[in-house]
Amino acid sequence: MRCGRSERRACPGVPAGESQGPPMPTATVILPAAGRGARFAMPGGGGRASPVGAPETKVFVSLAGRPVLAHTLDRFAALEAVVEVIVPVPPEAVAWARETFGERVASGRPLIFVGGGEDRVESVAEALAASDGKSDLVVIHDAVRPLVRRAVVEEAMRVALERGAAVVGWPVDHTVKRVSDGRLVAETVPRENLWLAQTPQVFRRDVIARAYERRHHVVGRVTDDAQLVEAMGGRVAMVRGDVANVKITTIEDLRLCEALLEAGWPFEGEEQGGRADG
Ligand code: CTP
Ligand code: MG
Repeated sequence: MRCGRSERRACPGVPAGESQGPPMPTATVILPAAGRGARFAMPGGGGRASPVGAPETKVFVSLAGRPVLAHTLDRFAALEAVVEVIVPVPPEAVAWARETFGERVASGRPLIFVGGGEDRVESVAEALAASDGKSDLVVIHDAVRPLVRRAVVEEAMRVALERGAAVVGWPVDHTVKRVSDGRLVAETVPRENLWLAQTPQVFRRDVIARAYERRHHVVGRVTDDAQLVEAMGGRVAMVRGDVANVKITTIEDLRLCEALLEAGWPFEGEEQGGRADG
């Protein structure tokens, strides 16, 4: 993906206009943003954190002066493979979101807001239904993870194209305890081979379409998209991401993102994720 269609001109040894290798894949990006943010509360419980007219959820609070969603949109708008961006938001906020964020991302590709569902899975299902259905890949990324690296997204896309499904994650590097109801430690769980799943999660279109068609047959709580692929026996490859890909769940996570931006994230030129697995 590094030597894509537009960069090819600059790629040594590849004459302009000559077809080299497979054509660059295209991708639909879905950024679920329809949650109510129940675990996120501004300190003191009061004070408006979102712009007037915006739903009062963490997706629209200000991060370094702009709504969290604006940062996340920027991360994807810059990718050449992206042909459409679909954002499920609370149903009552669709018109406001269209007005505020517009109908195109910076690259000129369509930006489509749809009403989300009761849970994340149903929000993504609404977004899939609104897709034009033409792209090779579907990239699903939590709107509340504004600090995602371009290289990580591109690597997940490359792996998904090859293997069908790819999840970005990070090897568990803490000691893990299983705890009883009375909050007593029952055991220490070996952390070898345990990874924390993040987003983006990227799928070939046929794979994710089939997985979502069967979503009502899955028992138990579904907390990510890959779980639906796993449930139908599909293979999911893990792609190493990085710890700065924070999911804003609480106010502390928002503060952490602010601090990272202040410190110069994305720290271009620095070696990322150098720690050993496990
Ligand atoms: N999400 C969604 N539709 C839902 C629920 C969640 O689109 N019905 C989105 C959220 O907006 C968020 C992402 O899924 O961008 C990850 O979910 P989470 O962090 O759990 O967000 P919320 O559900 O909003 O938060 P909480 O669970 O604390 O209520
Ligand atoms: Mg939630």
